[in-house]
Amino acid sequence: MSETATQLVSGARDDAGMLFGFWYPAARSALVRRNQMTTALLLEIPLVLGRDRDGRPFAMRDACPHRGMPLSYGRLEANNVECSYHGWQFDVHSGRCAVIPSLTADSKLKCDRIFADAFPCEERDGYIWVFVPEPDARAQSSGESAVPPAPELPRFSANYHIAHLSAEMPVSVDHGIIGLMDPAHGPFVHQAWWWRGRRSIHDKQKAFEPIANGFRMSAHTPSSNSAPYKLLNALYGAPVTTTIDFVLPNMRFEQIRCGRAWFSSRATVTPVRRDLCRLDFCAAWNVPPWSAFVGAGLRVFGPRFIHQDTETMAKQSIGLKHRPKLMLIDDADRPAKWYFALKAAYLESRRTGAPMVHPMEGPVTLRWRS
Ligand code: FES
Ligand SMILES: [Fe+2]
Repeated sequence: MSETATQLVSGARDDAGMLFGFWYPAARSALVRRNQMTTALLLEIPLVLGRDRDGRPFAMRDACPHRGMPLSYGRLEANNVECSYHGWQFDVHSGRCAVIPSLTADSKLKCDRIFADAFPCEERDGYIWVFVPEPDARAQSSGESAVPPAPELPRFSANYHIAHLSAEMPVSVDHGIIGLMDPAHGPFVHQAWWWRGRRSIHDKQKAFEPIANGFRMSAHTPSSNSAPYKLLNALYGAPVTTTIDFVLPNMRFEQIRCGRAWFSSRATVTPVRRDLCRLDFCAAWNVPPWSAFVGAGLRVFGPRFIHQDTETMAKQSIGLKHRPKLMLIDDADRPAKWYFALKAAYLESRRTGAPMVHPMEGPVTLRWRS
């Protein structure tokens, strides 16, 4: 992609930019309790979430295969969910029908051939993750071998602190993601005395490299004008290095390391509906003996920082309503171009069955001002 500006067509496709065949965080773990069902919307799929007798989470489409009654109106009976309409029961993990109360003893109907949609479901990093298969693929979690392991936040020591932040953004997942990776909005959207301001704009140069399903901003020493980095450097007397990865479908990992101290975060932008996505930010760290301060700092500044982004996207969504023409420019929007190219390559490989061709041929250095 050598042109300096690319026209960006917003939300023109049917799937509204949502990628199927990946794990997504559906809800925070704490919201999914035993003996109780809760609902979530993920890629416009209504889900019922809950836990089996052993506390293992499950996720099913919130619709009975008999006549569409939301299963969440039913009740849990051991490891089955019982529909509130005609009492059919389904195993919460496989979706297999176990009971149809209206059948007589001599009925020929084999109820174990009937399935509700059950999705692969795992608990990691304080989230209930759900694997959302291609719409035409069978969603049974049992015997599903093509499901990759659920994502996990990297950690670098046995002891650590962990924190979560989340916010809804009233834009498509594509706008949520390119907003997340956008390096040029910082000085305008995130002005703060302790971080940076408009007057601190300066030339930047960063090396990027292709990684599986994504790209990496290679390990580098972060901008010296940021107070938190100055502080880290002073505390540990070691250089601070940062690595930032973007990985399909929606994950941005950032690792900051300085001597024995580490901070590891992951931001995911999850499509809820075509016009709504959710940012989930999860961070773990071990910065002895200052870990408590990192937690306090995150609690104070994290929501403010995220609010600046969500407020910006809420305003942007007003402009996007009328489907204006948009553009991506070099080099500041090149990561966004890679994102779209990665998605296209992924979809192409899905379509043809051939291995995915990575859109980046090798390392690239980008330059911009921010
Ligand atoms: S609609 Fe669920 S059992 Fe009939
Ligand atoms: Fe931002």
